[in-house]
Amino acid sequence: MSKTLFITGGAGFIGSHVVRLFVNKYPDYCIVNLDALTYAGNLANLEDIASKPNYKFEKVDITDFEALKELFAFYKPDGVVHLAAESHVDRSITDPFVFIRTNVLGTCNLLHCAKELWKDNYTDKRFYHVSTDEVYGALEFDGTFFTEETKYDPHSPYSASKASSDHFVRAFHDTYGLPVVVSNCSNNYGSHHFPEKLIPLAINNIKNNKPIPIYGKGENVRDWLFVEDHAAAIDIIFHKGKDGQTYNIGGNNEWRNIDLIRLLCNIMDKKLGRTEGESQQLITFVTDRAGHDLRYAIDSSKLQNELGWTPSLQFEEGLEKTVDWYLANEEWVRNVTSGEYQKYYELQYSK
Ligand code: NAD
Ligand code: TYD
Repeated sequence: MSKTLFITGGAGFIGSHVVRLFVNKYPDYCIVNLDALTYAGNLANLEDIASKPNYKFEKVDITDFEALKELFAFYKPDGVVHLAAESHVDRSITDPFVFIRTNVLGTCNLLHCAKELWKDNYTDKRFYHVSTDEVYGALEFDGTFFTEETKYDPHSPYSASKASSDHFVRAFHDTYGLPVVVSNCSNNYGSHHFPEKLIPLAINNIKNNKPIPIYGKGENVRDWLFVEDHAAAIDIIFHKGKDGQTYNIGGNNEWRNIDLIRLLCNIMDKKLGRTEGESQQLITFVTDRAGHDLRYAIDSSKLQNELGWTPSLQFEEGLEKTVDWYLANEEWVRNVTSGEYQKYYELQYSK
């Protein structure tokens, strides 16, 4: 094996796409997936690559410093691609502390372990921190975008915890010379997305004829990127990004929530053989999220111009692919929502 890489959070939504891409594209890399299998982690996401010789799984909580130290000593990884996080804004409003533990303390544990392992020779080592555009705060409806220079202004406990972890990553670079790279990405969508987030929740509810909850008036805007395009960007940045740099990743694809949901309803009407407009009857306006950021929009020209990445899919095409995946994988949704998969894997992987 030419390299050993730790990918954290590889059993989650984006992490599973990154693990799949790296395992398939780099058969000479040993890819070790470090994941605690929280409610959001699901090894069924990786069934297609789980038996590949260059893939390994370690069930570990990144807040467990001693366990991490042992894994770094055992595998001696050359790189870390760090995605493990608590990722849902609404949960962070209910319980901010688990976000502080995992997103801040967990990231610091990984940074420290990487620094201790690599400090005598940083050549060909890299710590890649995967972050979010939410650290930049909220935009008005004024046509501006988040750039890599935009001042941090997080509003939710989730985005505050991610902002804090980004600062620690840069502090380890500036203080200890740790070779780091950071990316801040917009909202992702695609297969294997946990059905508490807007798009998979809406698909599931439309299918089951349940209300689709839209916060406030549905006027908030998000910039949506197909998850496989995010994974491709992570691959390019990991291999070609410059040390200490930050890259914004986005789809240049802004949608008001209400317009997105109407489009999704129309796609679902066709797929389910319903009359046009039927699914839209399910749209239900509910109390707004506290501190709800108005608009996110990413300027990803640095990544496009310097490293040659571009998103591959148009939104309608990606959304249709996503709907097809959810309709073909009803059992995955059932297992994830019932929590059954967690019990199963607890038994398989408990030490
Ligand atoms: P997710 O919630 O689907 O998955 C998170 C994964 O991390 C799960 O497998 C979970 O088991 C694991 N995990 C959580 N706490 C852990 C801990 N203490 N120790 C070890 N593993 C733990 O998240 P996601 O949507 O795939 O997001 C992945 C990363 O990308 C996060 O860092 C997130 O901030 C970032 N991000 C997400 C989006 C998005 O739209 N989802 C956009 C930009 C950036
Ligand atoms: P979400 O998928 O939670 O991602 P984020 O908060 O990280 O952007 O939410 C996307 C948008 O959809 C956000 O503006 C909140 C809104 N939303 C709803 O209107 N209803 C819902 O049930 C959910 C989960 C989100």
